[in-house]
Amino acid sequence: MKDQTKLKEEVAPGFFETRRRLLWLPACFAAGSILGRAERIFANPVDDEELMTPILTGDLDWESFLKECLPTAEELHKNSTAQGQNAYLHWLASMIERVRPTEIPRAKLGRFGKLEPAVHFGVKYRGKPFFIVEWWLEPNAVLPPHCHPNASVCTFGLEGEARIRNFEIVGKAPDFQSRETFLVRETHNEIIAAGRINTLSALRDNIHTFQAGRAGARGIDISTYHGPDMSFSFLDLAAKPKDQDARTFEAVWKGKSV
Ligand SMILES: [Fe+2]
Repeated sequence: MKDQTKLKEEVAPGFFETRRRLLWLPACFAAGSILGRAERIFANPVDDEELMTPILTGDLDWESFLKECLPTAEELHKNSTAQGQNAYLHWLASMIERVRPTEIPRAKLGRFGKLEPAVHFGVKYRGKPFFIVEWWLEPNAVLPPHCHPNASVCTFGLEGEARIRNFEIVGKAPDFQSRETFLVRETHNEIIAAGRINTLSALRDNIHTFQAGRAGARGIDISTYHGPDMSFSFLDLAAKPKDQDARTFEAVWKGKSV
């Protein structure tokens, strides 16, 4: 099945390179699944429920994860409301959690920016509605806070551990070009490690930052657009909160470079 729509390749966190290319990727699902299902459904309507219902229990290997996850993900992705994105993300989380982190195939990684200790990224899977990027943070590496406009991310830890923090903009933020101060609120501050999940949607927790532990950290981001690509920015965050109880911090956009 040929798809000529624009593809966005994540070459950095939230940094998407848009290009047009022919994609034959859905063929295994479209031909093997959709057409195959249709033929079998017409041939034997009794099989309909069985064929259209994903396997809901048990471990999944990587290929089974994609096969079982994608059809429902495509349906849930049609609802881009806050609630719809949450349902979509929790579906992805419930499926990827059934894959043992050690059984997830490794992507080819490349160093991102000039961060020291280094941060590495690599595209593991590119499809619809999501694409998957693997990341490897060297011991004590920090991936600075950045936003994901119109996008959601389901992060799944594979090895090591990192502290992951999420933030939301309080009120309205200035344009990315502005160096005006604005406020963000910390909404999560937790550990991501093998088998653990963190999610952000276009409408909640949309900013995140990672700080690897002493052994470094590896994981994957299952990323999805729920609207047009609006670019992104890193931001500088004040070290201490402006309001300790509310966990609000002063922030300034700092562009795409780190
Ligand atoms: Fe990110």
